[in-house]
Amino acid sequence: MAYAHTISNRVYRFADLTTLLAKATPERSGDQLAGIAAESDKERMAARVALADLPLRTFLDEQIVPYEVDEVTRLIVDTHDAPAFAPIAHLTVGGWRDWLLSEHATPDALAALAPGLTPEMVAAVSKLMRNQDLIVVARKCRVVTRFRNTLGLPGRLAVRLQPNHPTDDLRGIAASMLDGLLYGSGDAVIGINPASDSTAVLGSLVKMLAEVIERYEIPTQSCVLTHVTNTMRMIEAGVPVDLVFQSVAGTEQANKGFGINLALLREANDAARSLKRGTVGDNVMYFETGQGSALSAGAHHRVDQQTLEARAYAVAREFEPLLANTVVGFIGPEYLYNGKQIIRAGLEDHFCGKLLGLPIGCDICYIYVSPRLACLRRSAMVPRAARAIRRESSSSYPGDPMPTKPDDVLPHPTSFDSTERLAQIKGYVLNERRTPARNLPVVTPHQTIGPFYPHHLVRPGDEDLAACDVGGPRAEGEPMEIVGTITDLSGKPVAGALIEVWTANAHGKYSHPADHSSQLIDPNFKGYGRAITGPSGTYRFVGIKPGAYPNPGYDNWMRPPHVHFSVYAAGVMHRLITQMYFPGESLNDIDPILNGIEDLAARASLIAIDEKSDLGRRYRFDIVLQGEAETQFFIER
Ligand SMILES: [Fe+2]
Repeated sequence: MAYAHTISNRVYRFADLTTLLAKATPERSGDQLAGIAAESDKERMAARVALADLPLRTFLDEQIVPYEVDEVTRLIVDTHDAPAFAPIAHLTVGGWRDWLLSEHATPDALAALAPGLTPEMVAAVSKLMRNQDLIVVARKCRVVTRFRNTLGLPGRLAVRLQPNHPTDDLRGIAASMLDGLLYGSGDAVIGINPASDSTAVLGSLVKMLAEVIERYEIPTQSCVLTHVTNTMRMIEAGVPVDLVFQSVAGTEQANKGFGINLALLREANDAARSLKRGTVGDNVMYFETGQGSALSAGAHHRVDQQTLEARAYAVAREFEPLLANTVVGFIGPEYLYNGKQIIRAGLEDHFCGKLLGLPIGCDICYIYVSPRLACLRRSAMVPRAARAIRRESSSSYPGDPMPTKPDDVLPHPTSFDSTERLAQIKGYVLNERRTPARNLPVVTPHQTIGPFYPHHLVRPGDEDLAACDVGGPRAEGEPMEIVGTITDLSGKPVAGALIEVWTANAHGKYSHPADHSSQLIDPNFKGYGRAITGPSGTYRFVGIKPGAYPNPGYDNWMRPPHVHFSVYAAGVMHRLITQMYFPGESLNDIDPILNGIEDLAARASLIAIDEKSDLGRRYRFDIVLQGEAETQFFIER
């Protein structure tokens, strides 16, 4: 079925559901590499609007990878729980997004919904969500699993301990394991990426982990991250295996590239459960995934990498794992190019996983360059399945072999000159697709601002916005005074905070060269002020009440009179900015910026309180830096 949406008289058409999903995806290098990404922001937006209007039921009727050729699709379709889906069956994707963000989406409601969701549905709705939305909804999802301890309880963050050693030396691994445990990590799993494929070596690792856990009665579980067939061999040989590891992907063909299928995973799951080594539960599987794995295996069916990642979660979910871990960025920059794309992908993965009812962990793993992987990828002599197994069996992360010789050691990443860096890696052949064309800037590190500002930051007269010079002529308009108190989380006054304010004049004109509006200039109007709060956290400014002004470039909607505020205080690393509004202004009711605050009480808190004053009007605007009554601040980007 085809889809379309019109923007500015141009009709954007999308041939099928697969295309619509790909075009609606936030920008990322993997989809561009596959040639399926939106060609412009407008096309992306058109796809999102069309996707928002799509009934959720469409995903039950139209499959993006054919049922007949793909066992992952068959798993998704055949295990779909229609009664669980019923509460949202009448919604569109956009309507479901609103529902997820509403108070109806409680932890209990979301848990009951999970079996009724397909990965394509959750991927679709994620494409309509901001990063903040993904966090808000994922936070409401509760997924609890158990083996020798319990993971996923509210307010808990479990951590994997990964005591790898380049030669699988047992004493070296034991030493780093104890070191990590002393830091309190390892409650999710103590998981080793082995260097060897040998069943004897793997078995000795598993036995050593079991011995340490039992000797010290550590409430956790172990795993050696080797191919599932190796683990099954160990189970047959009587090795005390806790968890079975396997990388999984979102299509049958990509899983074939990993040397697995669903039947093999079932067999492994049954074998590990039969050992009954879990003391509080029997979630025995540990999966790893990552956006781009299907594309890198040439098995993506023209589906965008994020939707395929969600399909990998459907595979993982089937086996009730203790943990599934998305290794975000593990393949390299041609799939997730930079920090922005990696952060977005991590939040999408976390959201999609939890919504589907998967206990998901997140491992940000941005690989700038991986020479040996590049060699593996270039080699046409190594069959794909063999390559996948080699990656798993010999990697610290999937696809990132440990350096074994001094020549392989990468330079410290404070210098990101790609040419110099590559020159230091023996035998590396430059691959333009993997390497940014320009050198990456190194961001200046930040330091604490310290508790005190110099007194001379604020000079006499800085609190007066209505005169350019102390005692000089004053600007036209209604005199006003703005007073207030700054308090912290516990309600204590914040002394020594620096407040800066700026306003338009009585005609709605800023005293600034960038204000090109036709409003009248007032030569006596200064328009900005500075003050430092006193011991009781109070501040005061005097000025004239600003006028409303049209907002050019945005249909000239009239901004209501307002005062811009910037606040620095001890412990505030980045200035806080907001706007104060005046009571009784009809433009307050229609201002998109003020009304962008959905919480009515929070919105009202930005409207100053009118108090009587000898100067004319006095407006009280108290500022709360943190907590439930926190003042609504803008986020600067
Ligand atoms: Fe303004």
